[in-house]
Amino acid sequence: MIVKWAGGKNWLYKKHKNIFPTSYNNYIEPFFGGGSVFFNMFPKKAYLSDVNEKLINFYIDLKNDPEKLFQGVNRLIESHSDDQYYAIRDKFNNPRSTSSVYFLYLNRTCFNGIYRENRKGEFNVPVGRRKSSYFPFTMKDFLQFSFQLKNTNLENCDFREALKRAKEGDFIYLDPPYIEFEKEYDSFRRYNGLVFSKSDLEELAFEANRLKGKCKILISNFDQRGVKDYFTEKEWKFKSIKQMTYLSGKREGRKYMNEALIYNY
Ligand SMILES: C[S@@+](CC[C@H](N)C(=O)[O-])C[C@H]1O[C@@H](n2cnc3c(N)ncnc32)[C@H](O)[C@@H]1O
Repeated sequence: MIVKWAGGKNWLYKKHKNIFPTSYNNYIEPFFGGGSVFFNMFPKKAYLSDVNEKLINFYIDLKNDPEKLFQGVNRLIESHSDDQYYAIRDKFNNPRSTSSVYFLYLNRTCFNGIYRENRKGEFNVPVGRRKSSYFPFTMKDFLQFSFQLKNTNLENCDFREALKRAKEGDFIYLDPPYIEFEKEYDSFRRYNGLVFSKSDLEELAFEANRLKGKCKILISNFDQRGVKDYFTEKEWKFKSIKQMTYLSGKREGRKYMNEALIYNY
């Protein structure tokens, strides 16, 4: 994917492609992040949204002006150094800066591709250690990403707002952050200073149950205590998938985690 994103689901699509429906009207993805499923599925018409404003601004720029974005990021990648990284990070955190060039440069060179903000809303991830393959893309790749985004509506909003777009026959893919009680999973939850809470998950389940009669819905989440309790076996199907996950970006942080898939079709 063009953006490195914690909790990215490229692995899910590659390994379990068959779980995704092939016929539907609009594709709706309210927790878009790195958009792995969308970029693999390439639906004809899509509503894509995320609560992270800088991420969505980045996709809007990628859609509208891929050449300018590619040239800007490529230039920064070529002159990359630790000093440059911190100077750009300061500029990016200036409230008047809306630069998608800075967003992607920081995303490709930061520690472990994590997007994390402090309480003041400042991006605070340190520089990554790897010096090579920060940027395996060409202009052609950018044009292809832009092409894939042409028929999409990109919106910076909360999932509750995004779900108002759902109509009869649509497919909704919901991949919310994990809510977990153990501290070590925090990197999956803090995408933007706000933490996705248990009550958010409850509201998500409420919305999914409200829409289940008219849309195809797939939810992926950490298979933890309680997640499936919001869904009845009569109306929903369940699958649990084991997946190796990197926590905290360290080798010793590797763990098998179970991902729950909950769907109604
Ligand atoms: C697990 S990630 C999605 C990863 C994505 N499926 C991928 O493959 O890259 C969850 C996303 O939800 C977003 N998010 C968190 N809280 C949200 C909310 N209340 N409404 C909408 N998006 C939210 C985060 O910014 C993050 O991008």
